[in-house]
Amino acid sequence: MAGTLKEFTREELARFNGEDGQPVYIAHDGKVYDVSESKLWKTGNHMRRHQSGMDLTEDIEAAPHDTEVFERFPQVGILKPEKDPMDEHVPDFLLAVFRKIPMLRRHPHPMTVHFPIAFVMLFSALNILYLVTGNESLETSAFHVLVAGLVATPVAMLTGPYNWWLNYASKWSRIIAVKVFGSLILITLVLVIFWWRVTTPEIMLHASGTRVFYMVLTLILPIVITVLGWFGAKMTFPH
Ligand code: HEM
Ligand code: HEM
Repeated sequence: MAGTLKEFTREELARFNGEDGQPVYIAHDGKVYDVSESKLWKTGNHMRRHQSGMDLTEDIEAAPHDTEVFERFPQVGILKPEKDPMDEHVPDFLLAVFRKIPMLRRHPHPMTVHFPIAFVMLFSALNILYLVTGNESLETSAFHVLVAGLVATPVAMLTGPYNWWLNYASKWSRIIAVKVFGSLILITLVLVIFWWRVTTPEIMLHASGTRVFYMVLTLILPIVITVLGWFGAKMTFPH
């Protein structure tokens, strides 16, 4: 059972090379075998070529025999997978979680961004429809959708930096600058419009200078969120 076997790092494995009375271990395809009993390995060296205490997965390609030679020896452990250099900053427990639930690695941001995008766009669209039709329920719906946008935007603003840290090792770039700056503008706009609509519920109902200004802010929202999405997609799909 692989689960109960000892896990060897490459450094630990290197000690089992037959020297100073140490057993002779070799690793192949993630499995560590004890070949101390083999006449062909007992010196710690095989065919004057292959050193024990190492991962020999690739070396066996050139061998005159197949991997069934390992069936003669007990497996004593597993070789800890080497960390991808891009994962140096990621704790091992998280990498273990990703092995079990791979979607937690790439999806949190792309999945959650669609909510603020949809709500913000819908908020503007409903307000325009209200101005065109005069149907007040459209304006009320716009406000409710804005509240949904207010809840959804911070979620995207949390998953964004998380995915940036995880998959891009927090590497600063012009795109990231646009995203951070754009997100701050977005949440500020959403908060200002929300606060304005709560304190002046009839703001859209009568023609006035303030209504024009409120509508200007309302129409800037889809532009800001499109820029955020556009630059985000440039990271996910660079070509
Ligand atoms: C190109 C280099 C290699 C040569 C010329 C070579 C040659 C041999 C020969 C002639 C045998 C005995 C025949 C047999 O038992 O089928 C043998 C056995 C074996 N080889 Fe290799 N081998 C090479 C590479 C490797 C590598 C890279 C590994 C490990 C990944 C390996 C692991 C073993 C094992 C475990 C045995 C069984 C030993 C025993 O039953 O006592 N060999 N090898
Ligand atoms: C509400 C604010 C945000 C929106 C609407 C947004 C939108 C998007 C969109 C649409 C994508 C493309 C995802 C896809 O289609 O696969 C994306 C990707 C990305 N965004 Fe954002 N984003 C926001 C905030 C942020 C922030 C604050 C950061 C971090 C500093 C960030 C970092 C990223 C990264 C790193 C990617 C690439 C994800 C990957 O390739 O795995 N985003 N974003």
